[in-house]
Amino acid sequence: MSIVQELFSVEGKVALFTGGAGVLAGAIARGLGRAGARIVLTDIAPLDERVQELRQQGIEAYGYRMDVLDKADIERVAEAVKREVGAVDILLNAAGGNMPEASTSPERSFFDLPVEALQKVVNLNLFGGAILPSQVFARQMLENEAGGVIINFSSMSAFKPLTRVLGYSAAKAAVSNFTQWLAVHIAQEYSPKVRVNAIAPGFFLTKQNRYLLLDEQGNLTPRGQAIIAHTPMGRFGEPDDLIGTILWLASPASAFVTGAVIPIDGGFSAFAGV
Ligand SMILES: NC(=O)c1ccc[n+]([C@@H]2O[C@H](COP(=O)([O-])OP(=O)(O)OC[C@H]3O[C@@H](n4cnc5c(N)ncnc54)[C@H](O)[C@@H]3O)[C@@H](O)[C@H]2O)c1
Repeated sequence: MSIVQELFSVEGKVALFTGGAGVLAGAIARGLGRAGARIVLTDIAPLDERVQELRQQGIEAYGYRMDVLDKADIERVAEAVKREVGAVDILLNAAGGNMPEASTSPERSFFDLPVEALQKVVNLNLFGGAILPSQVFARQMLENEAGGVIINFSSMSAFKPLTRVLGYSAAKAAVSNFTQWLAVHIAQEYSPKVRVNAIAPGFFLTKQNRYLLLDEQGNLTPRGQAIIAHTPMGRFGEPDDLIGTILWLASPASAFVTGAVIPIDGGFSAFAGV
């Protein structure tokens, strides 16, 4: 076995995604699946097509409807997955996203932002996007001899808030903070074999942010132009750009890494703009 295989192996591991129908989860699931992981996708959106597509590529894949905002639903799915596929080794908390109603705009000033919209985006990204699935699956991982890995999805907005997206920025800052909190808590109170980290993707063109980055003709908006100008590598990310970092965080290669939030951003967070 080469050192690369030894360090980065996820062969036979059960990797469960929340938000498994999403764009980033799709690319990561293909990557982990090609590396030999057994893929469990969960979402409130339909998953059949994606599961079929993975299976056609020779990847062992399953789909379960699961609402991350409903703890009883998560518990039900966790039991079913354990019975039908096996205990989860890797939890990827990919459910989440921005909501235009929780962002300022020329029509919606800060003073008029509805608290319900802010609560909704925090609920989705912090509670559903990180805390509730971690409560359920970390408990399961503690029963695994080899422990487990939780990977949260933070954002550039967590390091320094991006303009307009108030609710999303607050929620993702809390996701990064929770990642550190849980990493420490689990290692100290339960087991150092369950590691908790996050990725902070830079700017990837997806349905949640397309309206902010491209106009109706597909040209960069002033915000899109500003992002590219502040990304030293001069482009948006491609979902496949995330696979290598996820493979590292999910495998023994990162055995001594917990509580880290890893930017995958073409240098955006490092650049002072000058
Ligand atoms: N795309 C980017 O540029 C970017 C950048 C930084 C961080 N992120 C984060 O990465 C994650 C994935 O982003 P994406 O771009 O793939 O988004 P996406 O919208 O394509 O996927 C998110 C998925 O979450 C699911 N979801 C929503 N509510 C749910 C619920 N209650 N229960 C279960 N599933 C639910 C949606 O159905 C969707 O399939 C999100 O947390 C996002 O905030 C994305």
